[in-house]
Amino acid sequence: MNDTIWTIELKIFRQRADAQRYFQTFQIEINPDEYVLDAIEKVWAFHDRSLTFRHACHHSTCGACGMLVNGIEKLTCITSIRSVTQNNGKLLIEPLRNFPVLSDLVVDTSSMFKALEEIGFNQVASLPSACLPYERKTLEHERSEYQRLVDCIECGMCISACPVSLTDSNYLGPAVLAAAHDASSQPLSNKILEIVDSRDGLWRCHNAFECSAVCPSNVEPGLRIMKMRQTVIAHRIKKLFSRG
Ligand code: SF4
Ligand code: FES
Repeated sequence: MNDTIWTIELKIFRQRADAQRYFQTFQIEINPDEYVLDAIEKVWAFHDRSLTFRHACHHSTCGACGMLVNGIEKLTCITSIRSVTQNNGKLLIEPLRNFPVLSDLVVDTSSMFKALEEIGFNQVASLPSACLPYERKTLEHERSEYQRLVDCIECGMCISACPVSLTDSNYLGPAVLAAAHDASSQPLSNKILEIVDSRDGLWRCHNAFECSAVCPSNVEPGLRIMKMRQTVIAHRIKKLFSRG
């Protein structure tokens, strides 16, 4: 561990409810091997207790701490200070794009969670379902009740980086389509097919792959969308020939 202490300047986005948005600047001292989330916590602890931001696990698991750092989506709990600035340098900290701001650095990601529920990724499992992993037989039958996309921490950073989500708030977005791709490795249900093969579904993607570039869990949402397109086309062809 490097014990050097750097002085850095944080320019942080502030907004309360519908009030005017503005930026506030703070100077802090920090070890450059600490993380951007540590710097934000220092601002909260020593400068301004009214600053709101979201975090929980501090080890890239809960997906709560995604923000824009110098304009790029970063999971702030694993982004070291030295990787994004230098001694006497500056950091611009903003909330994720393409979600409504609730307060300062906290955004409302409920649209993503609602869409995930639509394709069968329930956000809250009932108690009997939560116990299912220990009951193998029932597990087979009710797998979809608690099934989640492996590795996705539902941070929303892919949606923030997506140029289509920026211009079309109805677009399902990379996280949801990636989850649908995972679900489609099971026999493709008509419900999922209807959702993804729609105006707001996978044909809206422009192949920018910004989602894959910022994803902290290597979920590769861009690649999954492309693979899902192949699945849907194969399904359409099969349907066409089965009619004839
Ligand atoms: S796909 Fe990646 S970037 Fe998108 S929500 Fe999941 S973990 Fe986050
Ligand atoms: S605090 Fe949980 S992912 Fe960063």
